[in-house]
Amino acid sequence: MTKFPYALGLVAAAIALPASAETYQFTSELKGHPTTLVLFQQQDGALYGQASLPQATHNQILRAAEAAQFSGKQGQKLEILAPNGIKSARLVVMGLGDDALTEGEINALGGQLATHLAALPEQQVGVLTSGIDNGAEFAAQFAHGIELKSYRYTRYTPESTAETKHYQVVAENQQSASARHAALQAVEAGVFMARDMTNATAGDMYPGSFAEQAESLRKLGVKVTVLDRKELEKLNMGALVGVGKGSEREPKLVVAHWQGSDEAPIALVGKGITFDSGGYNIKATGTSIIYMKSDMAGAATVLGTVKAMAMQKVPVNVVAVMPLAENMVSERALRPGDVVVTGQGTTVEVTNTDAEGRLILADALWYAREQYQPQMIVDVATLTGSKVRALGREFTGLFSDDSSMVTELTYAGERVGEKLWRLPLAPAFGDELKSDIADMKNTGKSAGASVAAMFLHAFVGDARWAHLDIAGDALTSTGTDFAPKGATGHGVRLLSYWLTEQAETQ
Ligand code: BES
Ligand code: MN
Ligand code: ZN
Repeated sequence: MTKFPYALGLVAAAIALPASAETYQFTSELKGHPTTLVLFQQQDGALYGQASLPQATHNQILRAAEAAQFSGKQGQKLEILAPNGIKSARLVVMGLGDDALTEGEINALGGQLATHLAALPEQQVGVLTSGIDNGAEFAAQFAHGIELKSYRYTRYTPESTAETKHYQVVAENQQSASARHAALQAVEAGVFMARDMTNATAGDMYPGSFAEQAESLRKLGVKVTVLDRKELEKLNMGALVGVGKGSEREPKLVVAHWQGSDEAPIALVGKGITFDSGGYNIKATGTSIIYMKSDMAGAATVLGTVKAMAMQKVPVNVVAVMPLAENMVSERALRPGDVVVTGQGTTVEVTNTDAEGRLILADALWYAREQYQPQMIVDVATLTGSKVRALGREFTGLFSDDSSMVTELTYAGERVGEKLWRLPLAPAFGDELKSDIADMKNTGKSAGASVAAMFLHAFVGDARWAHLDIAGDALTSTGTDFAPKGATGHGVRLLSYWLTEQAETQ
């Protein structure tokens, strides 16, 4: 883990939330008199922001900390009302713990602060961070965390007037904090795009409207291509066309290409099922069908990542390939037992119409390879309930035979707090996919997430490839440190970090 080295200087970020990302501005000092100040203390007793505080306030904090047995544990909070020496109504002291923090841990602290303050009346918040190791990075990541958690989705509540809080983050080195913050705001714009698209109902977010969202990236210099059903048929992409047959909203394949360098592209392939009813193997038991508007979260994640790269003009060649279809029941829908012919030529017996994600990904993985000869492929998909049962809703399932991709992606996940856990890819799981009447069938019988991964494996040729199963990660019913209830945009921060590292090492 990187240690944040000591630095000195001053920065203030005035952050208006939940207004759009465009409303942020940096100033060189705290404006006005914030009614709430936030400070930090470590287990060794160091009080940050001290330089900006009168001695009387400082002394009072130390006495209050002792009285409350406040040790400065990571995330621990201490409140002092009407503090001495400053014009604030309330002072919040927040613990940083003893260890060097990852970016994700700093974001989480920002998120926890946003949650804490949401219930409080003060609207002006000053955040003092002077003296913290690598203060510019800290200030930018902390602001990023506040912003990630303060996201609100208002499409269906246009009259709602959420209270706006104004934050001024004061730290060292205004210029580098502000540059880092701008880069993180591009990542945030990608996260928010993915969340907006995932939160939209399946009535509003279907292959055609998804394609329009992708087209909006053209103004950033992203090359966007949309293939409609007829073009997919010409390319013999029978799996994607087959899954989309049951819906009056026709399937599409959308490509969003940010060519920020001349290296061979990195392909990101995202599952874009805009609603997963299960098809004839309908999701009849349990309540999971209610969440299936989020089955396009993988596609939204890869699109949001391309947006984040393009906004910052990161020198990386990245192409997002997004197969889009609505998995519905109708007299035209795929029947269990039907055989589809994929673009690759492999025939697949559809033993379960609810295992539709792997079908559309099969064609998209093949298309990405054929069209772009990528140096690496990462696919992102809400692929299996099995993954949720194995790893829950916080970890992402990682499947790959490429040890450097495993190492790098896992590291990126550690840094940003979107953690990956490796699950097995092995021929034995593929053996379960033998069909009596076609080259393969689309379901096996044992470890569901690994069987699904082995199905995808049949369509990646000899490309360097990693598969991320984000089932369960895309929506939160409780909120997390990084997101309020609803869509999380999970994966955008991970992939943005990883791609930025790729750009720096190539
Ligand atoms: N979209 C679902 C997987 C899913 C489940 C995502 C829960 C998010 C939360 C996927 O298409 C699916 O239905 N998978 C089936 C496959 C099975 C039929 C082999 C599953 O996992 O049950
Ligand atoms: Mn399904
Ligand atoms: Zn699905």
